[in-house]
Amino acid sequence: MSKSPSIFLPAFGVTTLALGVAYGVASRDYGADKIETLQDRVGQVESHAKAATEKATQLELNIAQVQAAAAERGALGVDLTAPAPASDGRFGLGRTALPVEIAAWDVDVLPDGRGLPAGTGNAYDGEEVFAEKCAACHGDFAEGVDNWPVLAGGLDTLADEDPVKTVGSYWPYLSTVYDYVYRSMPFGEAGTLTADETYAIVAYILYSNDLIDDDFELTHENLASFDMHNKDGFVVDDRPATEYEAWRVEPCMENCKEATEVTMRSVFLVETPPEGGTVSMMNPAKPEGLPSFSATGPSFVPVAAPKLEEAAAPAPALEQVDEGAQLVAAGKKVFKKCAACHAVGAGAKNKSGPQLNGLIGRTMGTVDGFKYSNVFKAAAQEGRVWDEESLAEFLAKPRSYLKGTKMSFSGLKKEADIVSLTAYLKANSE
Ligand code: HEC
Ligand code: HEC
Repeated sequence: MSKSPSIFLPAFGVTTLALGVAYGVASRDYGADKIETLQDRVGQVESHAKAATEKATQLELNIAQVQAAAAERGALGVDLTAPAPASDGRFGLGRTALPVEIAAWDVDVLPDGRGLPAGTGNAYDGEEVFAEKCAACHGDFAEGVDNWPVLAGGLDTLADEDPVKTVGSYWPYLSTVYDYVYRSMPFGEAGTLTADETYAIVAYILYSNDLIDDDFELTHENLASFDMHNKDGFVVDDRPATEYEAWRVEPCMENCKEATEVTMRSVFLVETPPEGGTVSMMNPAKPEGLPSFSATGPSFVPVAAPKLEEAAAPAPALEQVDEGAQLVAAGKKVFKKCAACHAVGAGAKNKSGPQLNGLIGRTMGTVDGFKYSNVFKAAAQEGRVWDEESLAEFLAKPRSYLKGTKMSFSGLKKEADIVSLTAYLKANSE
């Protein structure tokens, strides 16, 4: 009880003071209501004092528990603050790691499931944890925000010119996903996930990749036997045996080329591509525009010929900037949240959601070749048509606007997003 007096004594002090004030004021014949207010205050102060006493008792209890737990650990011989056991090593440095220390490091999970802690999780629970801890960087649907890694999609793009390598399209073992997420994510807060949270997140990443249904329960027992999409996409690198031998010839070390001729100077070579671009451009400098080399002069600094003038487009005056265009541009950004499942614009195809061309004015649930849920089929039969109001209501809370929809999207929280998105959809309806 050593700490409690310092916590509630001042509180009693205040009570006494307030009582004193109340008495003084009453005797000077103040109005009865003033006295009542003051009595109320006294009551409040007293109840605060009571709460403080309870809090102090609770703290005492907590301290006792922590001390008991420490004593228990001490008795087991795993007191982490105890001096290191003596080492018999030559330099008297270091000590044998304690079993608990090894256990804390030993978190690796192997493809056959060794190392997995007991636990379970599904995509439903995973969606919540993911939204809270991962979506800021990886997007609500694991589609990746800005340049943060994309975790979903890209299935069957590995042989394309521009393959999209994600957990779903690329990773051969599910154990790696568990191990990586548990060990290193959330980025900057590694080590804060529980085993069950990790199972749930891994399930959610699988779900975002269309690899499982939403009721699939991922556990330490079935994780290792889960077949990833690209499980057969890796081969053992046998090039050292099969190819390097064939190419290997004695290298030429002298007089390897008869004559050399300068065909290009580096100042004409590529320029760094403009921001966002991937194609380098030739520097438009002409040989005539360049100083010549001289062995005696100061060090050579090439001056590139002036760049070709860009077609002069007068900058629009600020007030002329088209508000509509700004809205559409804002909507385009919001559409990133939809783009994992929907396409819009010329040639848009159905993805996991229907294409959204000509949406305003279109009858609900009627895109050819798309398998709608029953609630959408019913809306189609009733002939319900998308207009701005119904779309806004749907996008705010898809699952309560059309109960039973299979669109797994929690909704757009900001009205401004809905307005700009609608403008974007209208502008991109062919
Ligand atoms: C602050 C941003 C941020 C947050 C939050 C975050 N990550 Fe990451 N994540 C990254 C970065 C950056 C990388 C790439 C790291 C690297 O390559 O070293 C990454 C990589 C990954 C990868 C590997 C992707 C690949 O294909 O190589 C997975 C899986 C992943 N994160 C899952 C998660 C999960 C699950 C969470 C939530 C528990 C999470 N991340 C939270 C930034 C983040
Ligand atoms: C995770 C995938 C997914 C995301 C993300 C998603 N949708 Fe959907 N959307 C669907 C599916 C699936 C359907 C079909 C729903 C059904 O049949 O119940 C659908 C249906 C729709 C429809 C009805 C179309 C029609 O033909 O009647 C509209 C409109 C729509 N989505 C708009 C959006 C917008 C706008 C966004 C982004 C803010 C979005 N969706 C995000 C999957 C998604």
